[in-house]
Order: sequence, then structure tokens, then C-alpha cells
Amino acid sequence: MSKKRLFTGLQPSGALHIGNYFGALKPFMEQCEEYDSFLMVADYHALTTVRSPEELRENTHSVVLDYLAVGVDPEEVVLFRQSEMAWIFECLVTVPFLQQAHSYKDKVARGMEATAGLFNYPMFMAADILLYDTAVVPVGKDQKQHIEYAREAGTKFNNAYGDTFKMPEALILDSVEMVLGTDGQKMSKSYKNTIPLFGTKDEVSHAIMSIVTDSEGKRPENVFAIHKLFRAESELDVLYEKNEGNYKALKEALIEDIEKLFSPMRDRREKFAKDAGAVSDILEKGAERARAIAGEKMRDVRKKIGIR
Ligand code: ADP
Ligand code: TRP
Repeated sequence: MSKKRLFTGLQPSGALHIGNYFGALKPFMEQCEEYDSFLMVADYHALTTVRSPEELRENTHSVVLDYLAVGVDPEEVVLFRQSEMAWIFECLVTVPFLQQAHSYKDKVARGMEATAGLFNYPMFMAADILLYDTAVVPVGKDQKQHIEYAREAGTKFNNAYGDTFKMPEALILDSVEMVLGTDGQKMSKSYKNTIPLFGTKDEVSHAIMSIVTDSEGKRPENVFAIHKLFRAESELDVLYEKNEGNYKALKEALIEDIEKLFSPMRDRREKFAKDAGAVSDILEKGAERARAIAGEKMRDVRKKIGIR
């Protein structure tokens, strides 16, 4: 029997952060050998925030290096885009349904321009997932609703035209759910509250030192919440008790733990970065594989909907 598909993507809208790592990349890496695995650079999605072509090109390159750095086997990395399918889903779902999307509402509430692209984004994402007969999608909790939207879009299509799309499941790690940023809100590239995944030691230290700590309670909860991604809570309980009130020492311990996990990956990233052609070769090969699968599905879809 052929393996089921594992699929996720990250937007190249800025430097990846530890929320992206723990929410999506780590679960992806933990599962990828068991599945036929696809990892995408959601470059078109990043158009909802990035306007500079140079920046988009650079970010895309950089995200691929990040994938390689965390240990992705280049044979698995795919880059592709299929807007046509998104359009078909958009004709099946309603505006009030899309208006309920938390991610859209949050972003607009934070002052982002309510473009049609931002609004339709969940159907674009549904297209990514469904075109590849995806079984499992490792994502952070903030994306849970988008996976439900993909199921809804697929169901509407299947009901209208006959069984075509498989229903994907979200894979959300209980231990992670939502990584909080330096301000105690969801860590996000769009919110300037990130701890960079592959920043320099100085950048990481600066971010950690800027974590907002409340003086109520015994331990700095915002620091602890991030720290427990890196070390067992039982060990942390001891450490935090010993250093009660000494927020600086606790933050320094966190910086050290972050370094321990990510510095070997950073070294690997630097090695790949020196090989000028590596990233474009990998993306080209991935695109070929992705296109073959998506192309076949699109042919089936077009026939069913009455186009060609
Ligand atoms: P961002 O919000 O930083 O722009 P993306 O939307 O590109 O990040 O998210 C890429 C992946 O990383 C998604 O699976 C998303 O759920 C996950 N992710 C992003 N931020 C967090 C977070 N703070 N905690 C856990 N997972 C996250
Ligand atoms: N919407 C996702 C995010 O912002 C990125 C993404 C695009 C994605 N297409 C996807 C994630 C398909 C998983 C599967 O995080």
C-alpha cells in the first residue's frame, strides 16, 4: 500500500521563528518518514503581506535554507502554486462562511489591509492541501480552522461533483498548541514579537531579554511558557524556584537552552547557504513532482466541472 501524504507549508513573509518551528516544522520532521511528505513554501500566500519582489525572493530562498537546516531531506521539498483550484472552491463557499475566519478577522483588527487575497486565503490553502490528497497537516493551533475550511470546501465539491477529494486532518501537538511571543500574545511574523529561529546569538538574546515579565506571581509566566518548549517542566520547576525573582538569570538559562537546540541546525544552514545553486535545484525538482500530482487531480476536476 502506498504511504499517506503529510503536507504543510509556511509563508516566506519574514524570518521564521520558534513558533513556526514548534508549531509546524518539528511535528513535520517527527512524522515525515512515515508518510509521503510534502513541505511547501507558501510564496503566493506571502503576497498578502509582502510587496517587495526582492524581499519575496530573498525570503523564499531563506525559508528553504531554514527547511534544510532543521534536517529536511531535499527530495521532499516542494514548491508549487495552483490558483485555479482556489477559484473553484471560492465559487462553492459563501462570503458569510469566509467572514468567520479568525485569522482574517485578527489580521484586519490589527490594521492589515482587508484585501480580497487575505479574505480568500483559506480557499487558496484548501487548494494546496486537497490537490495533493493530503491525509495529515502539521500546523499550529491558529491554523486549525483553516483545515476545517479545507474539509468544508472539499465536501462541497464532493457533494456537487462526486467523490474527488480526501478529507485532511490537522496534526496539532498538545504540548505546543500556540507559542507565545515576547509580548505574551501569539508569536507571529506579522506582530514583531518573535524569537527568531536562526537569528544570531545577539538577536536571540535581545528578543529573550525583551520578554515582558509581570511582577505578579512567583515566576515570570511568559518566560516559563517559552522555556518549557526546550526543557522538561519538572527540571524547570527546580530552576525557577532556585532563581525566584531573578528574571535575568532565568532568561539567560533560556538563551542557553535555545542555543543548545538550534546552534547545530544553524551550522547546517550555513553550509547549505554557501552552495549557491542548491536551493533553486531543490525547488525545481520539487516543483516537477508536485506538478505531476496536482496536474492529474486538476484534469479530473476540470472534467467533472465541465471545463475541457
Ligand atoms: P506567522 O503567523 O508567523 O506568519 P505562518 O502563518 O507562516 O506564521 O505559520 C506557519 C506555520 O507555523 C503554521 O503551521 C502556523 O500554525 C505555525 N505557527 C505560527 N505561529 C505559531 C505560534 N505562535 N505557535 C505555534 N505555531 C505557530
Ligand atoms: N496558511 C498557512 C499559514 O499561514 C500556510 C499554508 C499555506 C499552509 N498553505 C498551506 C499550511 C497548506 C499547511 C497546508 O501558516
